[in-house]
Amino acid sequence: MKLCIIGSGYVGLVSGACFAEVGHNVICVDNNERKVEQLRAGHIPIYEPGLEDLVSKNVAAKRLHFTSSIEEGVDGSEVVFIAVPTPPQPDGSVDLSYIEKVAREIAGVLKPGQYRVIVDKSTVPVKTGEKVADTIRRYNKQGAEFDVVSNPEFLREGCAVPDLMKPDRIVIGGNSERAVALMQKIYEPFMAPVLVTDINSAELIKHAANSFLALKISYINAVAQICEASGADVEKVADGIGADKRIGRHFLNAGIGYGGSCFPKDIAAFIAISDSLGVPFNLLKEVQRINATQRERFIAKIRQSLWVLKDKKIAVWGLTFKPDTDDVRSSVAVEVVSDLLAEGAEVTVYDPKGIEKAQEFKLVEGAKFAASPLEAADGAEALIIATEWREFAAVPLDELKERMHTSLIFDGRNLFDPETVRSFGFTYSSIGRE
Ligand code: UDX
Ligand code: UDX
Repeated sequence: MKLCIIGSGYVGLVSGACFAEVGHNVICVDNNERKVEQLRAGHIPIYEPGLEDLVSKNVAAKRLHFTSSIEEGVDGSEVVFIAVPTPPQPDGSVDLSYIEKVAREIAGVLKPGQYRVIVDKSTVPVKTGEKVADTIRRYNKQGAEFDVVSNPEFLREGCAVPDLMKPDRIVIGGNSERAVALMQKIYEPFMAPVLVTDINSAELIKHAANSFLALKISYINAVAQICEASGADVEKVADGIGADKRIGRHFLNAGIGYGGSCFPKDIAAFIAISDSLGVPFNLLKEVQRINATQRERFIAKIRQSLWVLKDKKIAVWGLTFKPDTDDVRSSVAVEVVSDLLAEGAEVTVYDPKGIEKAQEFKLVEGAKFAASPLEAADGAEALIIATEWREFAAVPLDELKERMHTSLIFDGRNLFDPETVRSFGFTYSSIGRE
C-alpha cells in the first residue's frame, strides 16, 4: 500500500522504515528541509539500533522516499499518518498546534475524487481525533472524502525497530469501517493482535498505558525508599513481586526516575485532561511527586557524602534518558548534571551516544566531555552512574579504582552488584539497596 508519514522524527522515521520493510511504499515528509536532505543523502539524524540498515535497505529497494512537500506525500498515498511533536505547555496540557497546522495543510491539498485516511500516530489527548476531523472538514473546500483514525504508537526508544516489527498489539481507533479495513490491511504483515476501538478509546489507551508504566516505576521507587529505610534490597523485592504473573517484572527497576520525551509529558497531559473533564486523576500527581523525589534524594545522598559539592571533581556516566538512544530530551541524567553544575561542581561526562545532542541543545553548559568512561573518571572524587549503558558494566573496576582520586560510586541505576564493587575497595551507594 502507499503510505505517507508526516514528521520524520523518532516515531515517524522508524514507523516509515518498518512499514517499508514489510513491503509498503512509504513517503516520509518533514518540514525541516535540512533533515530531508540528510535523509536523502543516507544520513540518519537520530541513533536507534537497526534503523540505519533498515532505512538504507528500503531506500535502495525504492520503497522509502523523503520529501518536504505535504502535497507530494498526500497526493500519492491512500493513508496519511501524522507523527509531529505534541510538546507540553507550562500547565501540563498538550500543545496541539503542530497537529492542527498539519491537519489544515492536509486539508488544503486533498483533491476531489480522492479518499484519504488521516491517522493520528502522535500521542494526543482524548477527543483530538474529533478536532482533527472538524479542522480538515472546515479547510477541505474541495469536498474530498476522508476519515480520521487514531493509531497510537507504543515503541520504546532504544528498541523501537523490534517493538514496531513485533508489536504486542496494534490499536486502531476508528469510526468508519472503510478506514479501519484499510488500517487492518496495512498491519496484516506484522501478524500481531489488532484491537479495534472507537477513536476516543484508542487515544485514551495510549495515555492510560504510559501512565500505568510510569506508575509502576514510581511504585517501585517508593518501595526503594522503604527498602533504604529498613535495610531491605529493592532488587530482591522487585524479583519477588514481579514473579507474580499478574504483576510482571518489567518496569520495576528502581532508579533516579523516569524521563524522556514521553512519560513526563504524557502523565502531565493525562492529569490536565482528567482535570478538564472534571475527574481529577490525583494518583498520577503522586506518581510525579515520587519521580521528582528520586532525583532529589540521590543528589542529597551525594551531598551528604561529599559535604560541599563546589569545586569537587565529579564524573558522570550517562546523559541519555535511557540506554541505546541518543535522546537527551527530559533526561534525568541531564538534570543530575545540571544540579551538580549549579552547586559549583566540576563535572566531566561520558555518554556513548548522547553528547552530540546535549551539545547541540546546550543542555549541560559548563560540563566537560570525555571520550571514554575511564577518561571521565580520571582524578574524580566521585563517580555517578545516571544511565545504565551496558558499556559501563564492562569497565574494569580495578582500573577504574586506580584512575579515580577517591573511590566513591553513586549508582543511580543499580547497574553494579554491590558486593562485587565493594570487593574492589569502592564505597558504593545505589538505589534501595543500602
Ligand atoms: C513523537 C510524537 O509525535 C509525539 O506525540 C509522541 O509523544 C512522541 O513521539 P517524536 O517522533 O519523538 O514525537 O518527535 P521528533 O523526533 O521531534 O520528530 C518530529 C518531526 O516532525 C521532526 O523531524 C520535525 O521536523 C517534524 N515536524 C514538526 C514536521 O514535519 N512538521 C511540523 O509541523 C512539525
Ligand atoms: C515509552 C513507552 O514505554 C512506550 O510504549 C511509548 O510508546 C513511549 O514511551 P520510552 O520513553 O521510549 O517509551 O522508554 P521507556 O523504556 O518506557 O523508558 C522511559 C523512562 O522510564 C526511562 O527514563 C527509563 O530509564 C525509565 N524506566 C523504565 C525506569 O526508571 N525503570 C524501569 O523499570 C523502566
